[in-house]
Amino acid sequence: MARKRVMTGDRPTGKLHLGHYVGTLETRLRLQEQYECFFAVADYHILTTRLDNLGEIEENIRDIVLDYLAVGIDPQKSTIYLQSLVPDVAELHLLLSMLISTTRLERVPTLKDMIRGLKIESPSYGLLGYPVLQAADILMARADLVPVGIDQVPHVEVAREIARRFNGLFGRVFPEPEALTTDTPLLVGLDGRAKMSKSLGNAIFLSESAEAVEKKVMRMYTDPRRIHPNIPGTVEGNPVFIYHDLFNKNKEEVDALKHRYRMGTIGDVEVKRRLARALNGFLEPIRVRRAEFARQPGLVERIIKEGSEKAEREAEATMQAVRQAMKMNYFRD
Ligand code: TRP
Repeated sequence: MARKRVMTGDRPTGKLHLGHYVGTLETRLRLQEQYECFFAVADYHILTTRLDNLGEIEENIRDIVLDYLAVGIDPQKSTIYLQSLVPDVAELHLLLSMLISTTRLERVPTLKDMIRGLKIESPSYGLLGYPVLQAADILMARADLVPVGIDQVPHVEVAREIARRFNGLFGRVFPEPEALTTDTPLLVGLDGRAKMSKSLGNAIFLSESAEAVEKKVMRMYTDPRRIHPNIPGTVEGNPVFIYHDLFNKNKEEVDALKHRYRMGTIGDVEVKRRLARALNGFLEPIRVRRAEFARQPGLVERIIKEGSEKAEREAEATMQAVRQAMKMNYFRD
């Protein structure tokens, strides 16, 4: 049997952070050892919400690819590509857009969040199609699995529905893709808000310097009732301990810190200092690798070019199957 296919991607909005790591990057590292993986930098998706900062996209694409490489996504194993260099995606998006209703798309919860969050007065036709474009990415690769953060699950559901509809109407071309979330699909932000996110300004980036990490950790939100170190503190749901659990490899230290915190025999400063140390231990190899990759001239360009050529070959095969199924292969050689 053919190896299972994995497809996922990121919009080039900036550098990747710890939330991306626990939400999806970690899973991708595991999956790339077993499956055929396609990772897209989804630059078309940027256009759905913002047209005023397109000049930044190129730098952001470079940052994302460097972050991928730094955490260990290996272009020998996985296909890293740029969405707009595979223009078949746009054609597939057009065809798929006929298979889903506007009322269904208006019910996608993330759409409402984006409109509210970005204060969009009147959403564009393209924004409504955001999940359809994402479905085109997923179905183009004929992916079985889509590792994503929990907020993206409704989009994968749209892709499933479109795949089902297509297969029902024209015969089976697409597997029904399945979303794959991790145990930590949503990482709390430094400020204690639900989600670490660049736009909320509550993120630690994978490429952040040790000093910056330290500074951010020392300012983290923690148990607000603890105005003295001798007041018993709450560990559960406390972002400082959530991060300790995720990133501090020294489990004995974490257990001891929790115990003392609950007893009121340790200050927040000490707990944070140790968190900063643990986080820097985790991030240091990522930073070192990133710097090595960034130093190689033309590396990112070559990876994107080769990956996109490979993705384009897959896309052509998919489009051939699609046209044949839809009886749209007329007047072609
Ligand atoms: N919408 C995704 C996000 O914002 C990015 C994305 C684009 C994606 N195409 C995809 C994710 C295909 C999974 C599969 O995170």
